[in-house]
Amino acid sequence: MTSPLRVLGVCGSLRAKSYNRALLHAAIELVPPEMVIEEYAGIDELPHYNADLDVDGGPPSAASWRSAVGAADALLIATPEYNFGPSGVLKNAVDWASRPPATSVLHGKPIALMGASTGMSGTARAQLALRQSFVFTQSLVLPAPEVLVSNAATRFDAELRLTDVASRDFVHRLLVRLLAFARQLQPRA
Ligand SMILES: Cc1cc2nc3c(=O)[nH]c(=O)nc-3n(C[C@H](O)[C@H](O)[C@H](O)COP(=O)(O)O)c2cc1C
Repeated sequence: MTSPLRVLGVCGSLRAKSYNRALLHAAIELVPPEMVIEEYAGIDELPHYNADLDVDGGPPSAASWRSAVGAADALLIATPEYNFGPSGVLKNAVDWASRPPATSVLHGKPIALMGASTGMSGTARAQLALRQSFVFTQSLVLPAPEVLVSNAATRFDAELRLTDVASRDFVHRLLVRLLAFARQLQPRA
């Protein structure tokens, strides 16, 4: 029997009532069989990337982040959009995981992106900017479907449950595609 695909879920917003965290929680609820999603809650503990701190494995927060990324079969990132890019805290986490480049835990890692914004473009530009960073790290970002939850305030209820049927369907389709994509890339036993 094949073991489930282990996906590390990362939310790029630190806000208590973050729509992106709510989107990640919706994904955890909609997870297909043969996949488990575990949320990584520690990216706010990473210091601002500074190569002077990145010696002997870096600070414990960086070591645990790198080890979680390295151990995961795939990443699922819920990104907010800040000024047409990802949040600083998320970009910082990508930067920590990207070093050292020759042995980066992001190299060859399957990644699915999704995002929610209160604007009309649903994080399209933030996701494109992340895709660009993941070209450098040689990560394998799932090309489609794009999960762009626009006008987020209308898609979640007061308890931050994703109630918009079309958005739920997109999230589910993203997970199904990620499962197939990551399985194709896994070495055969
Ligand atoms: C600094 C800042 C910049 C923002 N820039 C954008 C933007 O470029 N595009 C957009 O659609 N929304 C933008 N927003 C609004 C966010 O989409 C909104 O705050 C959203 O709720 C953030 O995600 P979260 O709910 O997961 O924290 C911005 C918000 C902040 C605080």
